[in-house]
Amino acid sequence: MGSFDRVASRYDASRRLPQVVLDQLAEAVVSALPPGAGAILEPGIGTGRVALPIAARFPGRYVGVDIAAEMLNRLRENTWHDRSPLLVYADVHHLPFQSATFDAAVVVALFHLLPNRVDAITEVARTLRPRGLLFHGRTEYRGEHGQLVERLRHYRSSGRAANDTKPVPQRIHDDLASKLAYETSINVGVWDVVTTVRELADAFAARLWSGTWKLSDAEVARGAEDMVRIAKNQGIGPDESLCHQRAMYLDVYRAGPWVAK
Ligand SMILES: C[S@@+](CC[C@H](N)C(=O)[O-])C[C@H]1O[C@@H](n2cnc3c(N)ncnc32)[C@H](O)[C@@H]1O
Repeated sequence: MGSFDRVASRYDASRRLPQVVLDQLAEAVVSALPPGAGAILEPGIGTGRVALPIAARFPGRYVGVDIAAEMLNRLRENTWHDRSPLLVYADVHHLPFQSATFDAAVVVALFHLLPNRVDAITEVARTLRPRGLLFHGRTEYRGEHGQLVERLRHYRSSGRAANDTKPVPQRIHDDLASKLAYETSINVGVWDVVTTVRELADAFAARLWSGTWKLSDAEVARGAEDMVRIAKNQGIGPDESLCHQRAMYLDVYRAGPWVAK
């Protein structure tokens, strides 16, 4: 079973984003497209939480790619309008499309998962038409407990504490900007979230987050304990409310005026 297959049935409930933010994201993408744009690619489309609102507003072809068949099955169940994305079971590193096929690509919550990120970006860039756009969605944590939540969430994608000198979002931006021209960042929306350290640690222990899938049971148990300890060292108990804001951004990159090889 491919890795996200194991959480497909729990994905939407555990990665909820407010519908208003998803709608604003879709509006931002569609309004930034050049007139007459005919095709959008979303690698790592998952269950379609980002794709479906865009596809509902976009008159052209919306093509989604994923390597987890269960995520694509869930997307088919989630589809609530006539403009269903065309779904392709494939790896983002080897896209089964000719060069210069798409006017735009949308990528959310994929690049941090990939060991060969630059290769994947090069492959997506290859499928973009000259001057095509890549929209990269990312979230930031703010507010009173934003930094602590960000630190605890780091476990989700890496399964270990954040020791990196350069934060992951900055690494992804640098890799994208090495292949495409960075244009702008659109602030799509900000919303309030309340959680607790226990909720975050329990989700980690239940292996909801991809960072846990390569860890042993002992490492997962230790990671969950670590999260509680990190918070305790900051004077925060496991059941205390952690109030913070999440902000969603779309970073926009543009392909060159040539067909990428
Ligand atoms: C965290 S989910 C994000 C899904 C969707 N973009 C969203 O924001 O809800 C990551 C998705 O990328 C897919 N994925 C991971 N590695 C991939 C690869 N090499 N090629 C294509 N899809 C991949 C996973 O199967 C999963 O559905």
